[in-house]
Amino acid sequence: MTLPKSMILGTGAYASEKVMTNHDFEEIVDTSDEWIKTRTGIERRHILEKERTNSDQAAEAAKRALKDAGLTAKDIDCIMVATISPDFNFPSTACNVQAKIGAKNAAAMDLAAACSGFLYGLILADSLIATGMYKHILVIGSEVLTRFMNWEDRTTVVLFGDGAGAVVVGPSDGNRGLLSRYMKSDGRLGNLLHLPGGGATHPASHETVDKHMHTIHMEGREVFKHAVRTMVDAALHGLKEANLTSEDLDLLITHQANMRIIRAVQHRLKLPDEKVFINLYEYGNTSAASIPLAIDQAKREGRLKEGDKLLLVAFGGGFTWAASAIRF
Ligand code: ACO
Repeated sequence: MTLPKSMILGTGAYASEKVMTNHDFEEIVDTSDEWIKTRTGIERRHILEKERTNSDQAAEAAKRALKDAGLTAKDIDCIMVATISPDFNFPSTACNVQAKIGAKNAAAMDLAAACSGFLYGLILADSLIATGMYKHILVIGSEVLTRFMNWEDRTTVVLFGDGAGAVVVGPSDGNRGLLSRYMKSDGRLGNLLHLPGGGATHPASHETVDKHMHTIHMEGREVFKHAVRTMVDAALHGLKEANLTSEDLDLLITHQANMRIIRAVQHRLKLPDEKVFINLYEYGNTSAASIPLAIDQAKREGRLKEGDKLLLVAFGGGFTWAASAIRF
């Protein structure tokens, strides 16, 4: 195991106060609180007000992370926003965040790896810091996926929510930081979970709108199977590369998509409930935002303390998957 090169210096999160419960969905599609809770574990999700943008909530999370790190926006060398629900195709959501927080010394870019996007960003930030190129990088996961729902499709609309989480990454103190970095993909399976319209293949037209091509399409059962398999694979690689076993872990945070997926990873690693952080019931699936939202909440609730051994594991559209063990 090599010494960590970078560590998380501060965390922040933001989710709108506007909430939709499962009961609210009973009024919109043929579903029930009972079905949603037992099949997914979701009870509520936060919905960003329609006059506000992805970069508004990302900037709010970023400001909170900067405050937590004791830094200002001018200290930031690079901003990465992991998102699949950007403000625009371009300019990037990261550039909009850069302007909103006044990070005048920062490069800015978006990163599209669906629900694995935050973890991909964290690992990239680690390598940029390891080379000495940058000192402080803001890695943000921010999504407004409720804007990309087919509100008549009960199989997807109940699953997703909005939110943003951010971390400031900086040089390791020699002890704390990323202990392993694992990222994989399989583009052959991209069409099991995708948003087909609006890109250069199917630019917006009346037809793409009529066919709901600007909304998320998912083969839930197939995605479920791959999510369990790849997240277990990622978790084991993340531990092995860090020279850890699951018994060494203080906390597991996985992407929050479905309670049954999280429990499958937990059981494979033989972890007790108190070592698994879950906030899915409150936010639903917030894609790239789910892991940084969970890290920030776990820290504020005292479930994640300085020096704790944390394992992050993600899976998302693409397909993409990733893991990183961290001495927090
Ligand atoms: N309310 C009531 N019934 C429903 C609903 C609903 N909201 N949605 C589906 N059903 C019905 C289906 O129509 C089906 O009915 P049928 O048997 O009459 O055809 C039945 O419930 C069972 O449907 P399944 O799809 O088999 O249900 P499943 O147990 O697989 O749960 C779910 C569906 C929750 C989507 C699950 O498959 C899942 O979580 N998949 C993984 C999602 C995921 O991990 N995504 C991660 C990445 S997300 C990203 O990258 C953006």
